[in-house]
Amino acid sequence: MKVLVIGGGAREHALCRSLSLDPDVNALYCAPGNAGIAEVAELRPVDALDGEAVARLATELRADLVVVGPEAPLVAGVADAVRAAGIPVFGPSGEAAQLEGSKAFAKDVMAAAGVPTARSYVCTTPEEVDEALDAFGAPYVVKDDGLAAGKGVVVTDDLAAARAHALSCDRVVIEEFLDGPEVSLFAITDGVTVLPLQPAQDFKRALDGDEGPNTGGMGAYSPLPWADPKLVDEVMASVLQPTVDELRRRGTPFSGLLYAGLAITSRGVRVIEFNARFGDPETQVVLARLRTPLASVLLNSANGTLHTEPPLSWREDAAVTVVIASHNYPETPRTGDPIEGLAEVAEQDAPDAYVLHAGTRREGDAVVSAGGRVLSVTATGSDLAEARTRAYKAVARIRLDGSQYRTDIAAKAAEGA
Ligand code: AMP
Ligand code: GLY
Repeated sequence: MKVLVIGGGAREHALCRSLSLDPDVNALYCAPGNAGIAEVAELRPVDALDGEAVARLATELRADLVVVGPEAPLVAGVADAVRAAGIPVFGPSGEAAQLEGSKAFAKDVMAAAGVPTARSYVCTTPEEVDEALDAFGAPYVVKDDGLAAGKGVVVTDDLAAARAHALSCDRVVIEEFLDGPEVSLFAITDGVTVLPLQPAQDFKRALDGDEGPNTGGMGAYSPLPWADPKLVDEVMASVLQPTVDELRRRGTPFSGLLYAGLAITSRGVRVIEFNARFGDPETQVVLARLRTPLASVLLNSANGTLHTEPPLSWREDAAVTVVIASHNYPETPRTGDPIEGLAEVAEQDAPDAYVLHAGTRREGDAVVSAGGRVLSVTATGSDLAEARTRAYKAVARIRLDGSQYRTDIAAKAAEGA
């Protein structure tokens, strides 16, 4: 099978790594990719937001499957253009991707499907904003309606800051604060059949102890030893299947990866958000544990034949990933800094620990930073403590001027707390 992956972050590196290990895959391309992906896939330049360009590239490469990684191309309808060219594509239509593209749309789908989520108001005027903030009280949760790369959400006790963020958005969702640990649960679906993956936990805040601003995610681990073993079944029944059924009922079936961001509150599981693609960095740890070869599962989703897929098989291993971010991430990340130590990790830590590239590019012989999140250092082990030790040992070998990472990824879970 020839596979073309669209995107160029650590999630796409994780996808390409798994696909490159799949015996069914005999040619692997990534567009536009990054310096790390170039080691496992052939890179092609493309404007990932241009559906016609992506469809042309897929046709030219005679791809049997296109996998669209990030949300922006999905929301822009890139999967529709590829599908229209007659090529199977893993990823939802632009209409179905509104589940991520518009928080108001997601709330409407959840209400219709009876999916538990935070109570919320959609506001477009300062009066509505004030009323909503007043109705819920602190801590305030204020979300830009549109795509914002994980940075459109402000959670704060400061009324003035909440109000300022709300007024900076055209349309804003203000909602009830949900207490309790967060879980990311992914499911692969073809619009009818839903196949859940293993849950993971992401660390959204920039600094240790969940301090600092929200980011795209600073690290992740899986499995979750503290979670109820029935969690996946429960979320399948109360969230994933009803959402997929509701979108099909509306005539906009969702195929691809449905990402449920959940809060485990004292009153039960609530959806914080949906995404229409694999999460980053959670994908790095979920795929590290997946034993089933990936390509046929993705192709069955693309072809509407997921019911033929046997249940997924998982390794006993635990996995941890630690994101190394550039100086000043998430505000105004500095790029162009050389990265050293990559070869040392490859020589001394593989295969238990390895580096997935997020924002990197090659400059002559050097690999330099090219984005806010630069690397996602991933490790496996017999338990979280071992995976964590290996991940941080590899992190310590990487040198990137001004970079930052959290030191507490999976720390509590590894201690059994
Ligand atoms: P989102 O982009 O909707 O996932 O929001 C980003 C982060 O903000 C989430 O991962 C949570 O940590 C936090 N957050 C979002 N909504 C809520 C809520 N209703 N209550 C508490 N925290 C929230
Ligand atoms: N890690 C959060 C996300 O992918 O949106």
